[in-house]
This record gives sequence, structure tokens and C-alpha cells, in this order.
Amino acid sequence: MKHTRRDVLRLAALAGASAAALPPWALALESPPELAARVARLQMLPDTYPQTEVWGYEGAIPGPEIRVRQGERVRRRFANALPQGSSVHWHGIRIDNAMDGVAGLTQEAVAPGDTIDYDFVAPDAGTYWYHAHNRSWEQVARGLHGALVVEEAEAPDVDREEVLVLDDWLLNPDTGQIDDSFDHPMMMSHAGRTGNFVTTNGRYDLSLAVKRNERLRLRLINASNARIFPLMLAGLKGWVVALDGMPLPAPSPAEEVLVLAPAQRIDLIVDVTAAEGEDAQLIRIGGDDQPVVQAAFPVSGAASVSRRGAPASLPPNPGMEAPDLAAARPLRLVMAGGAMGRLQSAVLNGERKSFRELAASGRFWAFNDMAEMGDTPLADLGLGEPVRLEIVNDTVFPHAMHLHGMHFREVSSDGGLGPLRDTVLVGATETREIAFAADNPGNWLFHCHMLSHAASGMMTWVRVS
Ligand code: C2O
Ligand code: CU
Repeated sequence: MKHTRRDVLRLAALAGASAAALPPWALALESPPELAARVARLQMLPDTYPQTEVWGYEGAIPGPEIRVRQGERVRRRFANALPQGSSVHWHGIRIDNAMDGVAGLTQEAVAPGDTIDYDFVAPDAGTYWYHAHNRSWEQVARGLHGALVVEEAEAPDVDREEVLVLDDWLLNPDTGQIDDSFDHPMMMSHAGRTGNFVTTNGRYDLSLAVKRNERLRLRLINASNARIFPLMLAGLKGWVVALDGMPLPAPSPAEEVLVLAPAQRIDLIVDVTAAEGEDAQLIRIGGDDQPVVQAAFPVSGAASVSRRGAPASLPPNPGMEAPDLAAARPLRLVMAGGAMGRLQSAVLNGERKSFRELAASGRFWAFNDMAEMGDTPLADLGLGEPVRLEIVNDTVFPHAMHLHGMHFREVSSDGGLGPLRDTVLVGATETREIAFAADNPGNWLFHCHMLSHAASGMMTWVRVS
């Protein structure tokens, strides 16, 4: 039985207590704030176009930013006002498995008109996000995502911070509406659903006024279905301080192209070096290597006369020791299929099917010969067991591989360990290796975050117990 706040007050009154003196347990019975997913119409395109119908949390694109301090609880009552079942996944959080929000693995999809309460602790400071995890290749493409920011106990020394959610939409150029061919074999079997309209925080022309020498923290989140963003800074100089939420051991100068694959995040601390009256810019390298302004930062006035020195590194998150590679269990994942691939056949519904038969069932990819997730995990891992997982991309497309519930490090060819991440971009025909200690119990997905790929065969899971 669920208690409402009114029930609690009534119980308290019956017990002769005043509402002001509610016992601490009563507070936990209070309903969490609502996060409703619903259909909305927004002016995303220039005014000469009609509004675009989207699916948004609270009807907004991106959804409302959720912000807590490190170690605090996130509580939301997800209300599904969509025409299809949905669930919310809290991407990158080392979460209690029951709260992971994966329809079909950790919960059932919430039916239209129903609600579910999410309640979990955010143990790590950093930039995370939340998104739909039922029919995600459709629901995320329709707009169901938002930023989840976990603040450090002590904030870094910056003048201000901006959360920039990058997205990519496939719109019908005549109607301005979202193209609804979500299950199109072309998108499934090629690079995924890449769009024709790119936004930052839901705007194609985002412009944020800044001051010269102002120090900004930029939290970049790639919420797109399949677009890889190669990014550059102009009139902004600074450092990468965190990847996928996790602080780098030392800030790394942001001079090269920054690659932000689907689901990945980059935290930057940058100073505005553009002159007054000019625009600083976040630049995306578009088709034909043409630079496109992803977000503009017009400079007016000066915050100080000179730039500050290099920032301190962000404090590390707790319990993130490197896994013991020598003791690690070796695992291998061979990714095959797709257009121009060599996949001849794979297993679907427990039966071997030819590539043609797979394609007829909407499957174009296989992980270790399986074109479905299946009941058997990729691996059954002991709690705390160190693992090294070789990822062989035997396809001609890049894939952004995401592990739920735990961060990993990339193992370089010389055996060194890279920074903590939750999503690694594995380029076409590349082999990469990741390592982690399986320290979070539960059933965790490991899948491609090019969401049409995940829907058409690129999904597996590990069990930690
Ligand atoms: Cu960002 Cu399986 O999710
Ligand atoms: Cu993929």
C-alpha cells in the first residue's frame, strides 16, 4: 500500500502529534517530486516553421536538470503520460541495480498512465544524464533525456557553469516533424539514426553571454542517438577535467579535437580569451570538415584583467582503485554484422538464422554470435572480481559501448590503464580492451549507445553476484 502525504498527516493527527512534529520516517513517505514524460509541441526550428511535436520530461527539451550534492538521494516519481510504455535510466550512476531503469532487465516498462518511484543515492560527483530505456531508439530520438548533475562537496574555482546537452534530430524538412521511421533497416544496419538538425539545450542557435577572462565550467553531454561530435574551442582556452563524470587525475589541456561519442560526457574548465565584442565558440566539425558553431558565447565586458593559472584537479570519487590486471578474468566480445559486414548467420530466439533471416527480423548485428540479448549473460562475475574485456569490432562502423552500473578503464597496448569511463568509442575494425572490478551487484547491460544498433542486436549483459 502506498501512503500519500495526506495519509501521513492523518496518521500523525490520530496519534495526537502535530504536523510540525512529524517523526523522521514520515518524511520518507512523502511522495517524491514528479517527473512526467509527455507529448509537447516546441518551437525548435526557426519561426517560419511550425512547432515540432516532441516527447519530453515535463514537456521540455532537454528535460529538467536534476542536481544534487554528492552522496545525496535522487527521488523522482516518474509518471508516464506517453502513448507507450517507458522507464528512466540514470546513465553513469553507480546505482542500486533495482533503480537502473532498464525495461526488460531490472523492471517492467511503466504503462501509459502509470507511475514508478525512483530513489537512489548518487555516490559520485560528476556529469551524468537520464534517458528513456524502453524503445530507447525511438524515445530518446523523440526527446526523452535530461542532465543529472552531482556536485562536488567543494565546488571548483570557476565563475559559473553551463550544462550543454548536445542533440541531433532527424526531422522531416517539409513538416518540421520528427521523422518516425525509427525501425528503418537503413538506420539499424548503418551508422545508426543520424539526424539533420543539431541542437544544444534544445536550440540550434544557443548563445550565452560571457565576459573576457571569465572562467567557465562546461559540462558537455552527448544525448544524440548516433552522432559522434568532434568538437573544438575558439576564443576559449582550458582543460578537460572529467570524462563520463569521473575526474581526470590531472587537468588535460583542451587543445586538440575533443571527440564526444553518443552518451559520453566531457567536463571542461575554460577561460574566455576572445576579445570584447567577439564571440567565443564551441565548434563542431561538420561534414566535409567544415566548422559549424555548436554554441556561441558573445563577449561583453571583462571579468578580470588577466587569465588565471591552471585549475586544480577535481577530487577523485571514492572507491575507484584500478583493477588488478594480473588477476583479472579475460573476456572477449566480438561485434559483427551491419551493412558491408561479414556476418553470415547468428543466433536469434535460440535458433541459428542466416543474415537474410536476421535482417527480416530487424536484426543486423551480433555479439559473440548472438543477435539477441538472451537469458544467459556474457559473464557471471563474482562480486569484486577484476575483469578485462577485449572488444573486437569486426564491423565497418564505430560503436559507443556503454557498461551500466560500473565505470571501467581502457587498457592500452602497453598494459597501462586509461581514465575512468562508462562509454568507449570503438572505431571501425578496431580492437580495444577495458578493465574493471565488478564491484556493483546486479544485472548490468553492456550495449552500443548508437541506439538503433542496440535495438538490432548490439546488446548483452553481465551478472555480478
Ligand atoms: Cu545510456 Cu543502456 O544506456
Ligand atoms: Cu553500434
